[in-house]
Amino acid sequence: MKITIIGTGYVGLVSGACFADVGNTVLCLDVNEEKIAMLKNGVIPIHEPGLDNMVERNANAGRLLFSTSYDEAVAHADCVFLAVGTPPDEDGSADLTHILAAARSIGQRIDKPVVVVDKSTVPVGTADKVRAAIQGELDKRGSTLSFSVVSNPEFLKEGAAIDDFMRPDRIVVGSDDTVATKLMRQLYAPFSRNHEKLVEMDVRSAELTKYAANAMLATRISFMNELANLAEVLGADIEAVRHGMGLDPRIGSQFLYAGMGYGGSCFPKDVKALVKTGGDHGQVLHILEATELVNDNQKNVLFKKLTRFYGGVEGLKGKTVAVWGLSFKPNTDDMREAPSLVLLKELFDAGCHVRAYDPVASSEALRVLAREHGAARVESMLTIVSSAAAATEGADALVLVTEWKEFRAPDFAGLATILRDKAIFDGRNIYDPAVVAAAGLAYEGIGRVSRT
Ligand code: NAD
Ligand code: UGA
Repeated sequence: MKITIIGTGYVGLVSGACFADVGNTVLCLDVNEEKIAMLKNGVIPIHEPGLDNMVERNANAGRLLFSTSYDEAVAHADCVFLAVGTPPDEDGSADLTHILAAARSIGQRIDKPVVVVDKSTVPVGTADKVRAAIQGELDKRGSTLSFSVVSNPEFLKEGAAIDDFMRPDRIVVGSDDTVATKLMRQLYAPFSRNHEKLVEMDVRSAELTKYAANAMLATRISFMNELANLAEVLGADIEAVRHGMGLDPRIGSQFLYAGMGYGGSCFPKDVKALVKTGGDHGQVLHILEATELVNDNQKNVLFKKLTRFYGGVEGLKGKTVAVWGLSFKPNTDDMREAPSLVLLKELFDAGCHVRAYDPVASSEALRVLAREHGAARVESMLTIVSSAAAATEGADALVLVTEWKEFRAPDFAGLATILRDKAIFDGRNIYDPAVVAAAGLAYEGIGRVSRT
C-alpha cells in the first residue's frame, strides 16, 4: 500500500518506518526543511532505540521516502496520516493550527478519493474540523471528490516506540465509513494477527479514548506521588506500598512509580487539554485538575529536600550539585516538560553550580535551557560533562533525575569519598536506601524514610 505521513516527528517518523518495514511504500512529509534534509542524508533527528537501523533499511529499499513537497506527498498515496504536533495553547486547549493547516494543504491538492487518518492527539470534534477544512478547499475548486476522515490515535511511548508500534496492545480506529475501516484493517493486519487488536468505534469515541488513556496514566502517577509524600511523613516506604498494591490484578503493577512528576510531550498537555474540554462543556474535571496540581508540586519536591538538607536556600548558595539525567525519561533525548528543567531553574536561582550528565539529551537540554534562561546564565551556572563520574568531580551532592540504566549501580563507597557533603538525592527511587547509607552517604528518595 502507498501511504503518506504528514508531520515527521516522533510519531510520524516511527509510524512511517514501521509501516515501511512491513512492506508499504511510505512518504514522510514535513514542513521543517532541515529535518527532511537530515533524514535524506540518513541522519535521524531524534534519539529512539532501533529507529536508525529501521529507517536506513527501509530508505535503502526505496520503501521510505522523505519530502517537503505537499504536491508530491498528496499525489503519492490513497491514505494520508496526520501526525503533526498539537501543542498546548495559552488557555491549555490543544492548538489545532498545524493539523488544520495540513488538512487545508491536502484539500488544495487531492485529485482522487483519499482516506485521511488522524493520528495526532486531538480533542473530540477535531475530525469534523479536519473534514470541514478539506471540504472548504474542495468547494473553492468546485470539486465534488469524496474523502473520509478516520481517527486512529497513537499509544506509543518514547524510548520504546518501535516495539509499541510493532506489537501494540490495541489499535483504535474511529470511523463512520466502512470502506475506510476496511482499508485500516488491511493496513494494520501485519501488526494485529487475526485483527484481534483492532478496536473499531465511532470517531468521537476514538478521539476521547486517547485522552482518557493518557489522563488515567497521569492520574495514577500523581496518586502515587501524593501517597509517597504521605508515606514519608508517616515513616512508611512507598516502594513497599507500591509492590503490595501492584500485585492486585485489579490495580496492576505498571505506572505506579513515584518520582519527580511526569513530564514529556504528552501527559502534561493532554491532561490540560482534557480539563479545558470539560470546562468548555460546563464540566469541571476535578480529578484531572488535582492530577495536574499534584504534578506541578511534585517537580519541586527534590529541591525542597535539598533545601532542607542544607538548612534553607541560603545553605545551598555556592554549592556544586551533580545531576545525573536530564531527559524527561530514559532512552530519549526529549526534554519537553522534563522535571530536570524545573530543578535546574531552582538550583540556578539558589546560586548553585550544576555539573550535569545525560547519555543522550545534553545538547537538546542546552538548547532548551539557553532559550529559557539565556546562554550567558546557562554557561555560568551549568557545566555539561560527558560521563556520570565527571559530573560528581568536585560536587557537594548528587541528584539522580532520570533513571538511565547506567546510573543504576554506582560505586557508592567511591561516591562517599568524592561528594563533599556525602549526600544522594534519588528522584526516581532506584537505589536501596540501606545500601547507600551503609556506604556512609545520606540518602533522600521520594516517599521513603530518609537515611543519614
Ligand atoms: P513532533 O513535534 O515530534 O513532530 C511534529 C512534526 O510535525 C514536526 O516535525 C513539525 O515540523 C511537523 N509539522 C508541523 N506543522 C506541519 C504541517 N503543516 N505540515 C507538515 N508537517 C508539519 O510531535 P510528536 O511528538 O510526533 O507528536 C505528534 C502528535 O502525536 C501529537 O498530537 C502528540 O500528542 C501525539 N503523540 C505523540 C506521542 C509521542 O510519544 N511523542 C505519542 C502518541 C501520540
Ligand atoms: C505516554 C504514554 O505512556 C503513551 O502511551 C502515549 O502514547 C504517549 O504518552 C503520548 O501520548 O505521547 P511517554 O510520554 O513517551 O508516553 O512516556 P511515559 O513512559 O508514559 O512516561 C511519561 C512520564 O511519566 C515520564 O516523565 C515518566 O518518568 C513518568 N512516569 C511514568 C512516572 O513518574 N511514574 C511511572 O510509574 C511511569
